[in-house]
Amino acid sequence: MTAALSPEATTRDAPPQPFDIRPFDAPVGAEVVGLDISKPINDADFARIHRAHLDHHVLVFRDQQVSPADHIAFSRRFGPLEIHVLHQFHLEGYPEILIVSNIKENGEPIGLGDAGAYWHSDISYKEKPSLGSLLHAQELPGEGGDTLFADQHLAWEALSPEMQARILPLRAEHSYLAKYEELRAKNPWRPKLSQAQIDEVAPAVQPVVRTHPETGRKALFVSEHFTTRIVGLPKEESDALLAELFAHSVRPEFVYRHHWAPHDLVFWDNRSLMHLAAGTPDSERRKLYRTTVEGDVPF
Ligand code: SIN
Repeated sequence: MTAALSPEATTRDAPPQPFDIRPFDAPVGAEVVGLDISKPINDADFARIHRAHLDHHVLVFRDQQVSPADHIAFSRRFGPLEIHVLHQFHLEGYPEILIVSNIKENGEPIGLGDAGAYWHSDISYKEKPSLGSLLHAQELPGEGGDTLFADQHLAWEALSPEMQARILPLRAEHSYLAKYEELRAKNPWRPKLSQAQIDEVAPAVQPVVRTHPETGRKALFVSEHFTTRIVGLPKEESDALLAELFAHSVRPEFVYRHHWAPHDLVFWDNRSLMHLAAGTPDSERRKLYRTTVEGDVPF
């Protein structure tokens, strides 16, 4: 009698899938063409994807006509998944998926319509920020709706040696609440946070320059959305330094602008990049599903 193979073993030993990885003509990013993430991915194919993610920082898996369960299963290959604090916008039955959408049904928002309104790296406000996020297009607008990605390794490398020496030892506070009320004033559909939600997102202190745990490359790690202050600096000096770093970190030569195609699944590395939603006209409908993979404590 032969012992039954576990589902994990059958996945690891699955037949290869033919697929191409094509770098974009941009500072970061590559598209993955021909892979079906809902089919078993063997260890060798997975290693190619993992390597490409480290090299290009954002991978666009084209034409993924897959279910939320497939999206979650593929995301889990990279690590445990975060459950977003805004449980109001979890996909029903799938708390691992945050709905990012400007659509309202019966006057109520079905998702987080202004996710990505400011440059940020996901979950930097927690002790363990995210490794990466996977955003899957469900419904795309006829105009607008692009997502921008800025390479924070390039941003670090482009700083003068004097500025690098100045900021290398510094640490900064990141807070989920930093812009929450400002966003709620603009978008009153944003839910008022309960005390339990506020407690879940207590501020975290992170290095201003982090080292990627897998590649060893340094990256700037401050963002307009979540970074509130440099620890130990007077407010005026901290504000001025952060303003300078925010402006520097998103210079056009570090940025790839993603124009979404139907069924794109975009997987970015939050340890290497910041991202921004460019915005969607109110007259257009946009809906995407996001999973977020947990990362390590930055150093
Ligand atoms: C996000 O910041 O996770 C959403 C980005 C987008 O909607 O383009």
